[in-house]
Parts: sequence; C-alpha cells; structure tokens
Amino acid sequence: MKKVLVVYYSRSGLTEFVARQIAARCDADIERIEDGRSREGVLGYLRSVLEALVGWRPEIQKGRLRSADYDLVIVGTPVWFWGVASPVRSWVLRNRRALDHVAVFCTYGGSGQAKALDDLEHLCGRAALARLALTEVAVSQCPGNPAFHRFLLELKRVRSVAISWLPLQGQAAA
Ligand SMILES: Cc1cc2nc3c(=O)[nH]c(=O)nc-3n(C[C@H](O)[C@H](O)[C@H](O)COP(=O)(O)O)c2cc1C
Repeated sequence: MKKVLVVYYSRSGLTEFVARQIAARCDADIERIEDGRSREGVLGYLRSVLEALVGWRPEIQKGRLRSADYDLVIVGTPVWFWGVASPVRSWVLRNRRALDHVAVFCTYGGSGQAKALDDLEHLCGRAALARLALTEVAVSQCPGNPAFHRFLLELKRVRSVAISWLPLQGQAAA
C-alpha cells in the first residue's frame, strides 16, 4: 500500500478540516505545520499578509514525520494574499528535496487560488499530480464536493492511492 502524508498549515481551521478529510480517505499520516507565532487578531492578520506579500519564510517547528518516508506528500495551504501561507513556504523549502511526488490543495475566500497553487507547485520544484481548491463555503460540503471527489480519484489514478469512500464517523454519506 502506498504511504501517504498530508501536511498542512491552518490559521482558522478550514484547511485543517480538508486535510483531515483527505487523510481519512487516503489512510494517510497527517502533520500540521507549526510556526509557534500568534496570528490572532488584526495584528496577526496583517503580519500574515505581509509575510505572504514579501515571500517571507518564518521559523517553523521541526515536524515529527519525514517526508522522505512517503510515496506521496499532499501539501495544503490557505490562500494568503493570492499566494501560499508563509509557514507552508518554509516547510516546502525545507523539505523539497524529499518531495518526489506531490499533490496540492488550498482553501480560500474568493480569489487567488490558481496562483497560490501555481506558487506552491513552483516551490515544490515539480508539477503536482493533483490539485484541489475549495472556497470557505465549499469546505463545509467537502465530503460531497465533486472537486474533492475528482481530486481523490486523480490520486488513485496517477499514484494508485487506495481511497476509502465509506462515510466517515459522524458524517452522512458523500
Ligand atoms: C492573511 C490572510 C490573507 C488572505 N488572503 C486571501 C486571498 O488573497 N484570497 C482569498 O480568496 N482569501 C484570502 N484569505 C482567506 C483565507 O484564504 C481563507 O479564509 C482560508 O480558507 C483560511 O484557511 P484556514 O482556516 O485554514 O486558515 C486570507 C486570509 C488571511 C488570514
């Protein structure tokens, strides 16, 4: 069975929700990127915008899992200022040599998703095997969302990832 890692950053929980959905369907390990900085409130928001704008690479904590141990790494980011969230930038640049096969996803408010995923692929140094972008509204319907299904099917097609279509605990059938 293919070993899959889902790695993500999330400020307010939406990208985390999608990451957990993907990990559950792919029987993947999951790791949250931690930068140890408060991004709460207006100041945290402005700092985050600024870091995305200038392409900053904040310090991040060393993760528990090694991306080199996986057949596929799925990287998720919220869209920040039409780009990648800065902690995700730091993680990718730290791990890119071990990223042979990647898929990417993002959550976003309303614009910039294509550029953010392009930037993320560029940072990874290779084309993504599959891409997924979900608006904040679409996140809540994620298990039944057609784009979400297509993303999983693509992972199965190109990387033989075993997908579980069973409803997850506490959720209606997709
Ligand atoms: C600093 C910052 C910048 C953002 N920039 C954008 C943007 O350029 N385009 C957009 O559609 N949404 C933008 N958003 C909204 C987030 O992408 C969206 O709410 C996302 O789903 C949040 O994911 P999270 O809950 O995992 O943090 C921004 C949010 C923050 C905090």
